[in-house]
Amino acid sequence: GPLHPVPSAEASAPVIHKGLVGVAVDYTAISMVNSDTNSLLYRGYPVQELAANCSVEQVALLLWEGELPSPDHLADFEALERAGRTLAPNVRRAIDDLPLTAHPMDVCRTAVSIIGANDPQADDRSPAQNLRKAQHLFAQLPAIVAYDQRRRHGLAPLAPRSDLGYCENFLYMTLGVVPEPKVIDAFRVSLILYAEHSFNASTFAARVITSTLADIYSAVTGAIGALKGALHGGANEEVMRTFGQIGTPDQVEGWLDDTLAHKRKVMGFGHRVYKHGDSRVPTMHAAMVTMLEHYARPDLLQMYDLLEAGMLARTGIKPNVDYPTGPAYHVMGFDTETFTPIFVAARVIGWTAHVREQTAANALIRPLSVYNGPHQRAVPEQFTL
Ligand code: ACO
Repeated sequence: GPLHPVPSAEASAPVIHKGLVGVAVDYTAISMVNSDTNSLLYRGYPVQELAANCSVEQVALLLWEGELPSPDHLADFEALERAGRTLAPNVRRAIDDLPLTAHPMDVCRTAVSIIGANDPQADDRSPAQNLRKAQHLFAQLPAIVAYDQRRRHGLAPLAPRSDLGYCENFLYMTLGVVPEPKVIDAFRVSLILYAEHSFNASTFAARVITSTLADIYSAVTGAIGALKGALHGGANEEVMRTFGQIGTPDQVEGWLDDTLAHKRKVMGFGHRVYKHGDSRVPTMHAAMVTMLEHYARPDLLQMYDLLEAGMLARTGIKPNVDYPTGPAYHVMGFDTETFTPIFVAARVIGWTAHVREQTAANALIRPLSVYNGPHQRAVPEQFTL
């Protein structure tokens, strides 16, 4: 018999849930994704209603604390957020030291890691401390995104403006101007739609890290890594690259035939949970159309519509929220590489809400695997010392 028997729990686990498809791993009270009705609720409220009526700051407090804030509570948080936007000198220096070719997601990941190292209370996982840290990261991320986009264009960083709300200041610090209200509004809608989405890959990564009793900054740093990939948050960038590759509306059909014939994925389409369409798309689509009209880009809208119709006719697969956000962020003036970091700035709300929920009712997340490597064998003599 084997000298070191394989532990029986691992040896006898027969069912593999590849990709954890269809597996529920815990309860959550933060959001509900219902694929049958294409609906998404944040703490019970339909995301469309929140997008129509609320600020990002209100939605953040709702996701963290469970209820929409009173006017006083909101005002306190707004003041805190406005006071927390300045980057520490060592965060700025670290970003300056990175090559201009570094992907902005790598810059974000590095900056968050340094913010964590700067916090003398990083390892205090109490609910109050974790809420404070979540709010600090929320205030800092737009400054990181803006700082990096500007440095890549050789532009001096802009100091935050405490007379501006979160969205206005985010746009101002990146673009150097406060855009018209309809642009601010489309941006606000996109951030609310991006803020939270149950146990998606990056949120699950944050919960796995939290489950080991590691700190919230480690969880967010890991989540940023998970969001970077093209199958998750990175898709919004790929959408813009796709439009660039296609070139002109008359080339959509040929490009699509070729892409599908080669079994390549069309980014911004399909979803693990929603099989009849993404609950967030109608709201983001409306915001995107407003933007493409505002910036007079009928060509982009035509490509958007043709690709969507072509995909539907050929595969039945519908767009996910990354499809309309790509073109909207593009015309607003964001670099393509900055799209996923914007997603980070919004999703940090959901990640940190999940870190707090995981911490409050923790169990180490450690699944099993079924071994299918070589049988037990002895190290050959030629490799022994
Ligand atoms: N383009 C072409 N074909 C697709 C696409 C797509 N975007 N999405 C799914 N399919 C096809 C697959 O090729 C597969 O076909 P097959 O059965 O013939 O092999 C079938 O549909 C099922 O797709 P899977 O990838 O196995 O399903 P899964 O549930 O893992 O997919 C995923 C979900 C990863 C999001 C997938 O739809 C995809 O890769 N989309 C493109 C990337 C993307 O837009 N990601 C953003 C997700 S939303 C977000 O992060 C906000």
